[in-house]
Amino acid sequence: MVSRVHDVGSVNDFKSGRTYPMTIEGRPIVIVRKENTFFAIRDICPHQGAFLSTGKVSGSPRRCLPGDEIVLDQIGEILICPWHGWEFDLNNGRTLAESGQGRAKTYPIELKEDRVMITLA
Ligand code: FES
Repeated sequence: MVSRVHDVGSVNDFKSGRTYPMTIEGRPIVIVRKENTFFAIRDICPHQGAFLSTGKVSGSPRRCLPGDEIVLDQIGEILICPWHGWEFDLNNGRTLAESGQGRAKTYPIELKEDRVMITLA
């Protein structure tokens, strides 16, 4: 299998907590930055095909009892689908649902000096 590395921009082109949709080799991909960590995930929801890039970057709600304050973990690492609210962990593309409903493909991404590089296989 041949891997191809693509330069998708400068680190400063991306702001934390936003989504950056792009097409690379014909594949819809969304880039998300959390401080100095970058994520790349397929920009198509595995449920019914919404663009995940039009969703919201959030966190994972900690388990709590009714009436408790809602506390988020993994802030900036969860992408919520805009259509039906499935929550995707940007680290691995898995949904947070206990049923393991679906998974969006993720892509390796790394920084080379000030450039953001994504690898497609
Ligand atoms: S299309 Fe994404 S949750 Fe339904």
